[in-house]
Amino acid sequence: MRDYKIEALVHIYDKEELNEEDRQLVEAAKQATNGSYAPYSKFNVGAAVRLQDGTIVVGANQENAAYPSGLCAERTALFAAGAQHPEQPVVALAIAARKGKRFMPQPVSPCGACRQVISGMEERFDVPIRILLYGTEGILVSEGITPLLPLRFVDGDMNL
Ligand code: THU
Repeated sequence: MRDYKIEALVHIYDKEELNEEDRQLVEAAKQATNGSYAPYSKFNVGAAVRLQDGTIVVGANQENAAYPSGLCAERTALFAAGAQHPEQPVVALAIAARKGKRFMPQPVSPCGACRQVISGMEERFDVPIRILLYGTEGILVSEGITPLLPLRFVDGDMNL
């Protein structure tokens, strides 16, 4: 037996430290929470993706009485971007969530399924996605999905 150490490095930014592009994307994600349909969880999540040409596409969680039929904000945004701009790589993704009017103090992390979809988008265009997880007490930034999803399943695993 031998150990295989997995290390992950992410960064925590104060809002004032973000560059203008990042700030704009986080703001779009916060705004996108207004499109959330979350009568069951009452957890309003917004996501905003920036495409390589600068276009911003937003999404918000959409729930359903049959719970698993709903979709997270991240996948709503990523799939909308894929459907509307199939030639454009996604270069950044911001996520924000609130309960009622209050945004969460700690950054909200994408669920496992969303991480896999983010990974798939990176693979599709061979471009890492800058991930910004908004919290009122700090913004967690990951340069690509790898720190959030080490040992992930990729096309290459199927010998494609
Ligand atoms: N949700 C998201 O939209 N994104 C996340 O990163 C975490 C969870 C949604 C799914 C569901 O509508 C609600 O939040 C509670 O899980």
